[in-house]
Amino acid sequence: MVMALLTVFFFLAPILVNSTNPALNDDVLGLIVFKAGLTDPQSKLASWNEDDNTPCNWVGIRCDPYNNRVTELVLNGFSLSGHISKSLLRLQFLQVLSLSRNEFNGTINPILAQLQSLHFLDLSENSLSGLIPDWIFRQCGPLRTISLARNNLFGNIPDSLSSCSTLETVNLSYNQISGSLPSGIWSLTRLKSLDSSYNLLEGDIPSGIHSLYDLQEVNLRNNMIFGQIPEDIGGCFQLKTLDLSQNSLSGTLPEPMKKLSLCTSLSLSGNLFNGEVQNWIGNMRSLESLDLSANNFSGQIPVSIGELLFLKELNLSGNGFTGSLPETLTSCINLLVLDVSMNSLTGSLPQWIFNSGLWAVSLSRNKLTGRMDFPPLTSYAAAYQSLRVLDLSANVLSGEIPSAIGSFRNLLLLNISRNYLSGFIPASIGELKTTKVLDLSGNWINGSIPAEIGGAVSLRELRLETNFLTGRIPIEIGNCSSLTSLILSKNNLTGPVPIAIVNLTDLQIIDLSFNNLSGTLPKKLTNLSHLLVFNISHNHFQGELPVGGFFNTIPLSSISGNPSLCGSILGQSCPSVHPKPFVLNPNSSSNGSSFAPDMHRKRIVLSISALIAIGAAVFIALGVVAVTVLNLCVRNSMPPAAPFAMSREGDLSHSPTTDSNSGKLVMFSGDSGGFVAGNNALLNKGNELGRGGFGVVYQTALQDGRSVAVRKLNISSLMKSQEVFEKEVKQLGKIRHPNVISLEGYYWTPSLQLLINEYICSGSLYEHLHEGESINCLTWKQRFNIIIGTAKGLAHLHQVNIIHYNIKSTNVLLDDSGEPKVGDFGLARLLPTLDRYILSSKIQSALGYMAPEFACPTVKITEKCDVYGFGILILEVVTGKKPVEYMEDDVVVLCDMVRGALEGGRAEECIDGRLNGNFPAEEALPVIKLGLICAAQVPSNRPDMREVIKILEVIQCPSEGE
Ligand SMILES: *[C@@H]1O[C@H](CO)[C@@H](O)[C@H](O)[C@H]1NC(C)=O
Ligand SMILES: *[C@@H]1O[C@H](CO)[C@@H](O)[C@H](O)[C@H]1NC(C)=O
Ligand SMILES: *[C@@H]1O[C@H](CO)[C@@H](O)[C@H](O)[C@H]1NC(C)=O
Ligand SMILES: *[C@@H]1O[C@H](CO)[C@@H](O)[C@H](O)[C@H]1NC(C)=O
Repeated sequence: MVMALLTVFFFLAPILVNSTNPALNDDVLGLIVFKAGLTDPQSKLASWNEDDNTPCNWVGIRCDPYNNRVTELVLNGFSLSGHISKSLLRLQFLQVLSLSRNEFNGTINPILAQLQSLHFLDLSENSLSGLIPDWIFRQCGPLRTISLARNNLFGNIPDSLSSCSTLETVNLSYNQISGSLPSGIWSLTRLKSLDSSYNLLEGDIPSGIHSLYDLQEVNLRNNMIFGQIPEDIGGCFQLKTLDLSQNSLSGTLPEPMKKLSLCTSLSLSGNLFNGEVQNWIGNMRSLESLDLSANNFSGQIPVSIGELLFLKELNLSGNGFTGSLPETLTSCINLLVLDVSMNSLTGSLPQWIFNSGLWAVSLSRNKLTGRMDFPPLTSYAAAYQSLRVLDLSANVLSGEIPSAIGSFRNLLLLNISRNYLSGFIPASIGELKTTKVLDLSGNWINGSIPAEIGGAVSLRELRLETNFLTGRIPIEIGNCSSLTSLILSKNNLTGPVPIAIVNLTDLQIIDLSFNNLSGTLPKKLTNLSHLLVFNISHNHFQGELPVGGFFNTIPLSSISGNPSLCGSILGQSCPSVHPKPFVLNPNSSSNGSSFAPDMHRKRIVLSISALIAIGAAVFIALGVVAVTVLNLCVRNSMPPAAPFAMSREGDLSHSPTTDSNSGKLVMFSGDSGGFVAGNNALLNKGNELGRGGFGVVYQTALQDGRSVAVRKLNISSLMKSQEVFEKEVKQLGKIRHPNVISLEGYYWTPSLQLLINEYICSGSLYEHLHEGESINCLTWKQRFNIIIGTAKGLAHLHQVNIIHYNIKSTNVLLDDSGEPKVGDFGLARLLPTLDRYILSSKIQSALGYMAPEFACPTVKITEKCDVYGFGILILEVVTGKKPVEYMEDDVVVLCDMVRGALEGGRAEECIDGRLNGNFPAEEALPVIKLGLICAAQVPSNRPDMREVIKILEVIQCPSEGE
């Protein structure tokens, strides 16, 4: 009976306890009061309801299934803050208290020491501050694990820690703990893990560690510990992880370490260790990760490393290792990451690195020599699949970049910069579909950037700076849509910034400095909203700097060295907005008053749009005033059109008769034809044929009825002596070529000089292209004939060492059979010096034909400037458009426009619409390309005129049979 009653009682006890046991209410009460002291911004503790009889179903609570008392309170990452209230003491059975990753602040509450059953305390990753409490270890009871990591604790590690003999795991990492490790720390004989990394500890590592048989992990990384690794560490044969990196430890590695045969990870980087790494390292057979980087180790890399069969990661970088990389490393079949950068390794590029399934290899900054050869694809197929990172930078490797480079199918980073690699960039780089970083900088690579670069679609960083690259930046770069960094500086690149670049909106760094790039900058560059650096200094860019965004605060040093670049930030307003006033040359006009009103009209039209566009009113007003003043001056200073008598020179050998009053006439043919210099028609504007930088040209007739063109030179003030003048002019008179206008004679007085030229009846090419009726427009055949004829004329001039300087469509005249004749040449020889400034001011009217080197004081002007002008002329003939056309509020530069169209595959659209499609595309497209090549920015990239003729003849061939 009693037994039965007892039995019933025991059965019912839990039920009775459930409702009435006061101890149980203690847990609820304790937790509710604890909750009341907290801030719970995310309502993580919403399930904690004071009406519940038991907290065992609440979030973060675990109970003992036998007595239903709370044993675990785990509230990690709940964003809780506030104070830890004393009420927790009611949780008498609490064993685990984990409040990691919250926002508790202030000092650690001493009541925690009174939780008698606690064996796990984790307060890591809060904002706790103050000293590490001494009391916590004094009454530590059954405490086995304590983590105070990632708080703001400071002061020393209390000596009482050593008395808490139950401790197995201590984590004090990421605080500001100072002082040295307590000398008795190794008396914690049950210690398995000690992490005091990222503190301010100093002093030695105490001895006595050998008695810690259970020790598995020691992490003292990133402190200021000095001295040596204790010799007795070999006793810790359970040690799996030893991280002493980033301290000030020194000496050699103690040999007893070889007993650490279970150690999987040894990291000693960033200390002052020295001496050789001995062969016993091969005894640490379990090593998976060995990091000895950034020390002073020297000697050869021990061959016994090959015995570390589990090794996955080997980092020996930043030491003084010499010799070659031991081939025994091939035995490390698990090796994934090999970093031996920044040593003094010699020998050639080891081929086995491609054969071991490695993911990442860095041999950077060593002294490897020989060619950069990659092994044959066939036998190494797997390697080409596995490599993610290959860094061979800053060695002494030479030869060409192997085209097998494109076979690394998973490569993320390829750095072969700062070697002595030469030759071209192989087109196969376009196959690097996964590569994010490609660095070929600082080599001797030449040729152009292959268009295939557009295939490397994952590229984020492309560095090709400091090479010998030429050619243009390929528009295909626009396919690399993830680019953040594009560094092409210090090459010899030419052409414009491809417009496609404006679509690469992730770009942060663009460095194109120190090249020969030219053209205008795409306005839409302002779309690049992440731009941090845009350096185009020391190129030949022209036109307006984009306005807005990044460009409003661009440092001057990023744009300097581009003389033709303008914009308010450069303090240089843009000529495209007010070009005309400065085109007018004070020396160029005689009584050109009829010219001036026209100019005014044009100016005013431009002014209105310009005003709206940039508000450059001051400049424009100045411009208009300048025109007016200039015209007035010119009119007043005009010498009267004095009648002059003439004399004749029968032959060049005959001495001319001179008359000091009337001047001297020389006709090279020996027949003046009755040229009457005093002819009233001479300065009659009705017979004005045109005007150039050197004077106005009039038509007049000789007495025998033959027409001649007479140029009245306006450069008297600059001219050399009569003697030199005559010598030069006679030289010019000897030039005879079907495509060159011949000089027939001259007339000289100190104040007036006339050149008498062959008269060509059918007008200038300019008139035919831009002023004729569209019905009578030149046919394709005529145009081609003009191009080739002009080329021959120019080639002849170059052959007799005459640079034209002023080739343009108004200077190419057409005779009645449509044959072109180049005129207005050689006059620069009459000037005292071939001064660049004078030259460019003389030919400034040839806007759009002027070669870029005129703007660059350091580049010598050669006959290639004519090739440039001729290139523009080709484009003009083919498109029927002027080299520079002014629109409502825009300026179209012909060669940029054509280049853009060609790049966009729309070249045919540029061809003169008046041809109605009547042209052979197989001629037209190559001719356009030839025009662009001739108009290359860098003079040496332009062909010479003889080559141009050859090319034209080749182009013409196919249609010749027709
Ligand atoms: C703890 O945080 C609260 C709220 O963020 C703040 O008011 C209090 O001053 C902090 N206490 C300490 C000791 O930093
Ligand atoms: C110590 O705590 C930090 C921060 O919580 C953690 O990252 C680290 O892994 C811990 N150390 C060990 C040995 O568990
Ligand atoms: C760049 O080109 C110019 C002219 O073509 C040449 O003189 C110069 O040496 C080249 N510079 C480099 C670094 O190749
Ligand atoms: C930029 O991208 C858009 C849309 O992808 C495309 O239509 C446009 O042609 C691109 N512009 C250039 C300059 O490549």
